[in-house]
Amino acid sequence: MRQPLVAGNWKMYGSRAENAALARSLLDLVRPESGTEVLVCPPFVYLWDVGRLLKDTDVALGAQSVCAEPLGAFTGEVSAAMLKDVGCRYVLVGHSERRQLYGEGDALVARKFVAAQSQGLVPVLCVGETLEEREGERTAQVVARQLDAVLAVSGTGALAKAVIAYEPVWAIGTGRTASPEQAQDVHAMIRGKVAALDATIAASVRILYGGSVKASNARELFAMPDIDGGLVGGASLKADEFARICAAAD
Ligand code: PGA
Repeated sequence: MRQPLVAGNWKMYGSRAENAALARSLLDLVRPESGTEVLVCPPFVYLWDVGRLLKDTDVALGAQSVCAEPLGAFTGEVSAAMLKDVGCRYVLVGHSERRQLYGEGDALVARKFVAAQSQGLVPVLCVGETLEEREGERTAQVVARQLDAVLAVSGTGALAKAVIAYEPVWAIGTGRTASPEQAQDVHAMIRGKVAALDATIAASVRILYGGSVKASNARELFAMPDIDGGLVGGASLKADEFARICAAAD
């Protein structure tokens, strides 16, 4: 049995005051007895603050990106060891906004994945196709390429301590969600690909869906056999909405 995971990606939103209010409301609303793991990923500068509020609670802390290098003269970057030091358990790698807006290619994403694991952080590897790639029927090929780039560097075994998030780029922040069947198709493809390498890991690795997940569509998405939760952007900034998404994963 895979424990569902619902992750909130706060992106570049919030302030100290807003984050504190959001975190406190989440702690009120998220039911600790639920079987769903809950994670929030604030911007770097707020990790420590939010982490202190979440300490010893059932809501885990993660970052939105990480440097591929362990330490050194890399102005503006944040290392995996630093993320660990401020209490992160998870880190997103290869989010499509990083890939598209900041030129992060498959090889760099793979190095970030390895850097995260080297410090015991659980990478949430984001993969997904653009609208053009979907319309060109290249979804499977693109997602396979993004996964292969990581597997080539980390080895299949590394997936035992990772999470995969399928996020079709055309569904992120657009209000246009993949249908449960569209998402399930890709999730099954991803799990099948992992199963061809290691059936045990394929059965246990969590594959999240992301892209305009809301309380109103979460339940039908999470009901799909290979969808193990969600990576939520916009809707994670509203505590009640996010809590309802978490409840939908139970
Ligand atoms: P969205 O973002 O839920 O606002 O579409 C998802 C994401 O970018 O992870």
